[in-house]
Amino acid sequence: MSPDELAELIAARRSNIFIDAESVVSDTQIDQLFTAAQWAPNHKRTWPLRIAVVRGDSRRTLGGVVADAMALRGDDEAKVLKTRTKYLRAPVVLVVASAVGESENETEENKYAVAAGIQNLLLMAEAMGLAALWSSPAKGANDAITSLCNMDNTDHVLGLIYVGSANKEAPAALRPPVRVTFLN
Ligand SMILES: Cc1cc2nc3c(=O)[nH]c(=O)nc-3n(C[C@H](O)[C@H](O)[C@H](O)COP(=O)(O)O)c2cc1C
Repeated sequence: MSPDELAELIAARRSNIFIDAESVVSDTQIDQLFTAAQWAPNHKRTWPLRIAVVRGDSRRTLGGVVADAMALRGDDEAKVLKTRTKYLRAPVVLVVASAVGESENETEENKYAVAAGIQNLLLMAEAMGLAALWSSPAKGANDAITSLCNMDNTDHVLGLIYVGSANKEAPAALRPPVRVTFLN
């Protein structure tokens, strides 16, 4: 792949929630997605990436535990209700978390590695012609999500990534010029 082709792929990636919930993402594709995430740079090779693949009825269970956590915090009722079914919007939701490190700094750097991994994953989805959207976990729902996903309760959920075939294009996005300083 040439640098121009890579630049084109990077710029073509859009966050897109317009996903056909009935579309199929194969096991091979899911494997390629999380393998791409594992290739992210990782200081001290701590391998902090944790993934749960949520499909079928488990998407509703995920929505339920997140909604319950939101309700416990007193979140807006309409939002809580919407959350119960929101993960049914895509055939696959990848829960991506970062493991705790041996120090505060390592824990923080682990999160950088996992965030870099998510971008790898999103680019892989783009290369596969799949739509994807990185969504934030609801505040206060970390423990409920890690518990459901068989993760450690010290793991930090960075994102719930919706993946599937697009049924509509995402709106075009722009990027402002980069604030850059050259020191020669
Ligand atoms: C850490 C993180 C959390 C995000 N959480 C959400 C979210 O909860 N809901 C959402 O619609 N988009 C979410 N996004 C996607 C951003 O809104 C999106 O990247 C931004 O609008 C730029 O659009 P683009 O990805 O198409 O370039 C998140 C992105 C990041 C990096």
